[in-house]
Amino acid sequence: MLHYDSQDIQNEQFKALSTSKEFQAIFPEVFEDGVLNIEKFKDILCDIKSEKTEHYSFNWSGKKECYRIIKEKSNATLKVDEDKTIPDGDNVFIEGDNLEVLKLLQTSYHKKIKMIYIDPPYNKDKDFVYSDTWGDTITNYLIQTDQLRDEGYTSTKTSSTGRRHTNWLNMIYPRLWLSRNLLKDDGVIFVSIDDDEVHNLRKVMDEIYGEENFVANICHKARASISNDKIISSNHNHILFYAKNYEYVFNNRKNIGLNPNLEGFDKDDNDGEGPYKYTPVDGPGGASKGNPYYTFEGVTGYFRYSKDEMKKKFDNGIVVKVGNGLQKKYYLKEAINTRRTDTTWWDEKLYTSTATTNLKKLMDGDYFTNPKPVNLIKRMLEQTTSTNDIILDFFAGSGTTAHAVMELNQEDGGNRNYIVVQLPEATEPNSEAYKAGYKKISDITKERIKRVITKLDYKDGFKSYYLDNSNFQVFRELKKRPNDSVESIVKMLKMSVFNKNIFTQNAKELDIVYEVGLKNGFSLSAKTEALHVKPYTFTKLYEDERAFYFCFADKIVTDIAHAIPKDAKLICYDKALDDSTKLNLRENIDIETL
Ligand SMILES: C[S@@+](CC[C@H](N)C(=O)[O-])C[C@H]1O[C@@H](n2cnc3c(N)ncnc32)[C@H](O)[C@@H]1O
Repeated sequence: MLHYDSQDIQNEQFKALSTSKEFQAIFPEVFEDGVLNIEKFKDILCDIKSEKTEHYSFNWSGKKECYRIIKEKSNATLKVDEDKTIPDGDNVFIEGDNLEVLKLLQTSYHKKIKMIYIDPPYNKDKDFVYSDTWGDTITNYLIQTDQLRDEGYTSTKTSSTGRRHTNWLNMIYPRLWLSRNLLKDDGVIFVSIDDDEVHNLRKVMDEIYGEENFVANICHKARASISNDKIISSNHNHILFYAKNYEYVFNNRKNIGLNPNLEGFDKDDNDGEGPYKYTPVDGPGGASKGNPYYTFEGVTGYFRYSKDEMKKKFDNGIVVKVGNGLQKKYYLKEAINTRRTDTTWWDEKLYTSTATTNLKKLMDGDYFTNPKPVNLIKRMLEQTTSTNDIILDFFAGSGTTAHAVMELNQEDGGNRNYIVVQLPEATEPNSEAYKAGYKKISDITKERIKRVITKLDYKDGFKSYYLDNSNFQVFRELKKRPNDSVESIVKMLKMSVFNKNIFTQNAKELDIVYEVGLKNGFSLSAKTEALHVKPYTFTKLYEDERAFYFCFADKIVTDIAHAIPKDAKLICYDKALDDSTKLNLRENIDIETL
C-alpha cells in the first residue's frame, strides 16, 4: 500500500511495544492471542499506585501540546528546486521549517544519521523563535516565512511576551524528539547553546536522549575579547554532546578522540619492529592509585606493572634499563592505532570572530552574524564520523556544517554526506545581505555551499529541496473534513467523478514522484531517470536495489508489464486501468495506483 502522509511515529512506537518479547514476558496478562489489549494494560496501570507521591519532573506550560505536535502527521512535501539543484552526489539542502522537514524524514532516514549538529537560536531578544501550530501547519509556515504576505515579517520579540523560556522550550522540544529517531544506534548529537538556555536544554536532552546517554558538556571558548559592560564577561559557549546509546559509543571509544601524537619516535633497533620512543614505567599516582612498590634491576619505586609482568616485558626486551632508570619501548605502529582522549575545547582559538571574517571573505560581504567556525564542526566530525556517514544540521544558518563536511572529506578522502535544513527567514531590509539580493537566510546558505564547492573544486554537488503543500488533493479535502481519515478521503477522491485525479491542480509529475518516494522510504538522494518504452513514458525512481516506475498515462493496457522489471513496482493512475487489466497486471507485476 502506498503511504500518502508522513509516518505515524507514536503508532510505530506502539507497534514496537506490542511486539516486544520483553514486554510480553513482563505483562503476559495483557496479551490475547499474541495481540496487546491496550485497554487491559491501561486498567493495570491504574491499579499501580506510585509509592512516591512527589517525584522529579520538568514541566512548562505547553509541554502537552508538544506531544500533540509531535504526533500530528505532516501534510506537506519537499519539492525539488530544479533551478538551484547541482546534481551528482548525495548531499541535500532543504529550505523549510525543520519541524515539518523532520517529520517528512522519519520514514526514509530512520536510524540513518550518524551525527547531528545543531546551533539553534539562543533565545536572545532579536532571535526569531518559530511558532508552531497544529492543524494547517503549512499555511502557518508560509505566513511566518513571508511567502503569503507582501509586507515584511516582524519577528517575535519573545522576551516581551513573558513567555520567553516557554516559547523556546515549545519550539525545541518536538524537534529534538523527532531528531532522535533519525540517529543510528551508534549515532551522536552535538547542540551548541549559551548560558541563557543551557539549563533548560540540558533537562530537555536528558529527558529525550536519556540522562545516561549524556557524554559531555564541552565548554568552547567562542571569543577572545572582553565585554566591559558585564560583571563577568562570558566568553564561552556550551556544546551538549549526547549519544543515542552511551554504552555503544563508550565501547567504541577508541575511535573517538583526537589523532595520536606521532612525534618523537626517533629510535629504531632495525629488528623489523619499526621506530619507537621511550615511555615511563612508573605508576602515576604512586601508592594512592594502588600501584605496586618494589625493586627491579636495582630501580625502586611504584610501577605500572606487577613484578612478574615487569620481568616478562624486560625478558622480551620491551622494558629496558636506560641510565639509572627503566623505560618502555613504545612503537609507532602501536601509536598509530590509538586516539588521544579529548578535553574541553578552550585553547583551540575556535572563535566566532574568525569564522565571521572567513565567511565575509568567502561571500564577498558581511551577510550573516555569528556563524560557527568550520574547524569547530570539523572537530566533531573527525571524532565521531567516518566515510559514508550522513550528517544532519536542521538549524543550518549560513551552512557551516555543509562546509565542514566538504572540507574534511577533501582532507581525508572521506565520502560523508550532509543534509542541512534552513528556514527561509527574511533578512532585515536594511541589512547588507538584503541589499546584496539575499532576501532570505536560506539564500545565503545555498550560495555559501555553492561557493565552497567552487573554492574546493569539490567532487559533489547538492540537491536542493523546498517545503511546500502536498501534491495530494487529500490534504485540502482534509481541511474541509478534519475528522475523516486520509485513507477514506483518498478512496473517495479516486471514486469521485468530479475529481479526475487525486492531485492538486498545478502538481508537477516530478514533484509527485519525489513525494511518493519520500513517504514510501526513498531517501532525498534517490535518483530519477526518464524512460521511453513505446508507447509508454516512465519516470524511474531508484535507489540501491529498489525501483518505482511511475507512468502518468491516462490509459494503460497489459503490455506495460513487459517494460517493468520483475523486482520493480509500477505506480500509475487508478483511472488508467480497467478492472480486468488491473487484475491481469497484478498477477505479473507489483503495482500500486494513485
Ligand atoms: C544560530 S543560527 C545557526 C548558525 C549556523 N550554525 C552557522 O554556523 O551559520 C540558527 C539558524 O536556525 C534558523 N532557524 C530558526 N528556526 C528554524 C526552523 N524552525 N527551521 C529551520 N531553521 C530555523 C535561523 O534562521 C538561523 O539561521
